[in-house]
Amino acid sequence: MKKPKPHARVIAVIGGAWGDEGKGKVASYYAKDANLVIRATGGDNAGHTVYFGDKKIPLHLVPGGIGYPQTQCLIGQGVVLNLDTLFDEIDTLKKAGVPDVDKRLKISGTASVLMPYHRHMDRLHELLKDNKIGTTGKGIGPAYSDKINRVGLKVYDLFLPLWELQEKINVATRAHVALFKYLDEEIPEEDFFVDKLAEKLHEYGERLIGMVVNGHEFVRKYLYDDLNTIVIEGAQSVRLSIECGDYPNVTSSDSNTLGTLSGAHLNHKDVTEVVNIYKAYFSRVGNGPFPTEFPSHIKLDGTLGKYLPYESKTGDRLREMAGEYGATTHRPRRVGAFDAVLARQSAELSGADYMCINHMDTLGKFSKDELVVMICTCYRYHGRVIHYYPDDINLTYEIPEPVYTMFDGGWEITPEMKRYEDLPKKARLFIEIIEREVGIPVKYIGVGPKNEDMIVREDV
Ligand code: IMP
Repeated sequence: MKKPKPHARVIAVIGGAWGDEGKGKVASYYAKDANLVIRATGGDNAGHTVYFGDKKIPLHLVPGGIGYPQTQCLIGQGVVLNLDTLFDEIDTLKKAGVPDVDKRLKISGTASVLMPYHRHMDRLHELLKDNKIGTTGKGIGPAYSDKINRVGLKVYDLFLPLWELQEKINVATRAHVALFKYLDEEIPEEDFFVDKLAEKLHEYGERLIGMVVNGHEFVRKYLYDDLNTIVIEGAQSVRLSIECGDYPNVTSSDSNTLGTLSGAHLNHKDVTEVVNIYKAYFSRVGNGPFPTEFPSHIKLDGTLGKYLPYESKTGDRLREMAGEYGATTHRPRRVGAFDAVLARQSAELSGADYMCINHMDTLGKFSKDELVVMICTCYRYHGRVIHYYPDDINLTYEIPEPVYTMFDGGWEITPEMKRYEDLPKKARLFIEIIEREVGIPVKYIGVGPKNEDMIVREDV
């Protein structure tokens, strides 16, 4: 056996439900003292906000760690990179005065490039489906399918001679153009014009020189030092993962821990801690099963209209109180109760060591007589009580009926609460039931909107 090398602390922050759990809060808690922060999967379908001084900077691609001047950031090989978005974000960060963005942000040469035509293919593929997924429309699925088809472009391709780049784009667009023709749809020329696209990529390549690295070697510079901390900012979540989520209502990357690690140029033995992030209630954008959803007048494709048989005042009120509208698409999010059955499965699938429960303050805003503080502890399904998330749920569309533990509302939770003991008794009971049902401890509790509004239980 080889003597183990000194090894950094490596923390993976993974969404436990359907994304938008507030991963940025825990990621930034670690990032402020980290040496390296890595974004590993997905593309500009994800969204988070970085606070720099009093400036709020919305980001989709650049890791949130960029807000901390001592932290290096890497966009890893698992990402599909929209270069227009990337350069917009770089410019915004520079304008906001964030120091050394060009020096601190590195891009893996083996990250994939999301091309302008991918957005159009996303629209077309949705159009062809009877059961829409409700994608973010950012072209994520088509960018990954080009990668799987081995016609996708990598960041290294930006440095090819122009004619070779043109040839690659030509090959990549053939099937897409054929589909447009087959459907008799007008081709959006500006996003398919090979020569123009190649020239633009070349220009981007020139701007990116100095930022592009060998991701494997770059990460290892930080990995083999036991004084270092590396944070991996997960995108999307366990249940949106192409491998283990609610297929087909998922994103196109493995946004669970293993996919996130390989997207970050790491292996399963490199990670030292996995944190699963949840909200005290659940939310989902796009279609797909959501057993504990509060029925709502919001259609499953996110548009407004009468769709379900009755309205849920609770759902609508929660959405308003919590501002549950998509960061990327501004679509109203579907909302519902905390599902401990699903959370236990996510914790097991992701190898989570502990949880973060965000938005405890939001749930606390319900008044005492509203019976809305609930935890689903098992389901009724096909006449039986079950304690697992059924794996045929996406085929049958038969949604299991949640069985709840209920509390009355009326806890007041404020950002001033810094210790677990400061929380009202009922809120602590809520946390303890979640811990018991999911089987791992809650280490972080979100008590307000800002990153620092978080109780950290050091003893956990
Ligand atoms: P896509 O990733 O745009 O292909 O969308 C596939 C599904 O994942 C849709 O239901 C999206 O709403 C959902 N999704 C993708 N990214 C996010 C995210 O960052 N938060 C929440 N849902 C997401």
